[in-house]
Amino acid sequence: MKTINIIGSGNVAYHLIKKIQHSTHFKLMNVAVRSKEKNQEFITNDLMVTSIAALQPVDITIISVSDDAIEHVSEQITYTNSLVVHTSGTTNMQVLSNKNKKGVFYPLQTFSKQKQIDFTKVPLCLETESKDDMLLLKELANELSNNVYEISSEQRKSLHVSAVFVSNFVNHMYTIGNAICDENKVPFEILHPLIEETAQKIQYLSPKEAQTGPAIRRDEKTIKAHEAALTNETFKKIYQLITESIKNV
Ligand SMILES: NC(=O)c1ccc[n+]([C@@H]2O[C@H](COP(=O)([O-])OP(=O)(O)OC[C@H]3O[C@@H](n4cnc5c(N)ncnc54)[C@H](OP(=O)(O)O)[C@@H]3O)[C@@H](O)[C@H]2O)c1
Repeated sequence: MKTINIIGSGNVAYHLIKKIQHSTHFKLMNVAVRSKEKNQEFITNDLMVTSIAALQPVDITIISVSDDAIEHVSEQITYTNSLVVHTSGTTNMQVLSNKNKKGVFYPLQTFSKQKQIDFTKVPLCLETESKDDMLLLKELANELSNNVYEISSEQRKSLHVSAVFVSNFVNHMYTIGNAICDENKVPFEILHPLIEETAQKIQYLSPKEAQTGPAIRRDEKTIKAHEAALTNETFKKIYQLITESIKNV
């Protein structure tokens, strides 16, 4: 059986830990965390260590910490010559310490501890320096998910920017929609079916084909009425910028 260490206990690590603990080919040896108390609910005591230096050599080490901490964390690993990967969308593989073989294991999904997820559907974007390391990483990835891709650092960065638009920004649009509903005392839930249908539609139509609304129709009177109704200046600017973008794409 091949062995794994995980460093970090945030949203992504939480889901990886849960999934890898049920693996038949990979054994989770240790999880390096900064606070045992904080993580006792989901990581058993025998797995947790509070010092990265205490980790013993394994086949694959997964660093799943904040992007800015990846480099420093990788330098604290004391063993050498094994495969060490990070899970970041935008961080270059090269920031990892030269002591070990480098790789990326980027799950392209939005993860929160509070929301369970079907990991078999999560696209896993892999990068390594050598073919042998790719084979090893694919062995793990294929056991966890049915969607495994070899993706370069540059491609991964573009996927991540795209993901910010289609997920993080879309979620912020929900926040704005919610605030506008609250201000006018209408339940945001009324919009739920529209949100669902919009997301489902692009499985059948391209986003450009699926676009509806006043901007694509160039209904200027309606656009002006919406702008006048928006009391928040930031929301108004966002409305105007996206309206222009829809007209011009
Ligand atoms: N969440 C997502 O949807 C998502 C999706 C794909 C990829 N990713 C990537 O996955 C990685 C983890 O993201 P996340 O959302 O799981 O982050 P998160 O929930 O904010 O958790 C960050 C983890 O990093 C640890 N950490 C931060 N600074 C550290 C340091 N200096 N030394 C050691 N540990 C440190 C934190 O420890 P404490 O708990 O002690 O603070 C925590 O365990 C990031 O590279 C992110 O870009 C995230």
